[in-house]
Amino acid sequence: MPRLISSIDEMKKIALEMRNAGKTIGFVPTMGYLHEGHLSLIKRARSENDIVIVSIFVNPIQFGINEDYDVYPRDIDRDLALCDGAAVDYVFQPTVKEMYPTGYQSYVEVTEITNKLCGASRPGHFKGVTTVVSKLFNITMAQRAYFGWKDAQQVMVIQRMVKDLNMNIEIIPCPILREADGLAMSSRNVNLTAEDRRSALVLSKSLFRAREMAANANSNPKELIAYIKDMITMEPSLTIDYVEAVNLDTLQDATDLKGRVLIALAVKVGKVRLIDNMIIGEM
Ligand code: PAJ
Repeated sequence: MPRLISSIDEMKKIALEMRNAGKTIGFVPTMGYLHEGHLSLIKRARSENDIVIVSIFVNPIQFGINEDYDVYPRDIDRDLALCDGAAVDYVFQPTVKEMYPTGYQSYVEVTEITNKLCGASRPGHFKGVTTVVSKLFNITMAQRAYFGWKDAQQVMVIQRMVKDLNMNIEIIPCPILREADGLAMSSRNVNLTAEDRRSALVLSKSLFRAREMAANANSNPKELIAYIKDMITMEPSLTIDYVEAVNLDTLQDATDLKGRVLIALAVKVGKVRLIDNMIIGEM
């Protein structure tokens, strides 16, 4: 079994000892309720580092007031068993009070690229993410951290933060893992009703189809977005938050399909907000 640590001081002490012993630390930050997508990051971390630390912390400050913090799925025993199977060394699971004690008042904020996509529809979300991730980087002292392309904007924001703030950590983005039928794996999928689970398939289906359409030299971002929106609108229980095509590096609207273009969407499926994306062009 991995060692379960809930104290910041203890986690820091262990990390320091490991670093002093010349060991490399790979870190996978999560909010728990682990699935194969998380495990793919953990496996990659396992293969590239001496020590693997996984954090499990549902970070309240990255949720808006009307969002799903309270119903976000949690099951630490299940998570620990999965971490055990993946040969994780340490699971860091602090309480909210441990991370944000009375008197807490420091935040990390990345500006421009957080104004688009999920940043636009979830004000304050990325400020919560960059703050908690900075804290976790300091606590775990990892040399490498693993993030999924499932949250493409999060990858770009974290990379920007690490570069801008000269953090000594390498960010390793990993591919999206999907269910056999194409639905992107997400902890939130358990909150879908059976019918919504079926309707949600249109998200990945339309993205895959858009990628095929993009192979045609005459296709353009507008046409792809219109196609995806049409497909989603046909499903009655789905409400579009956004469907956008942006340049992956700047997150500004893509006017053509040259370079790396990110087609990203956020859609309410019943009560559950799901995101998915596809990167078109060379990686
Ligand atoms: P969470 O949603 O638990 O995701 C943890 C990591 O797993 C993220 O890097 C995410 O992109 C990755 N991930 C989730 N689903 C995936 C999938 N289907 N395929 C590949 N990777 C996937 O993202 C967060 O937590 C939080 O914002 C966090 C970074 C922990 C900060 O609180």
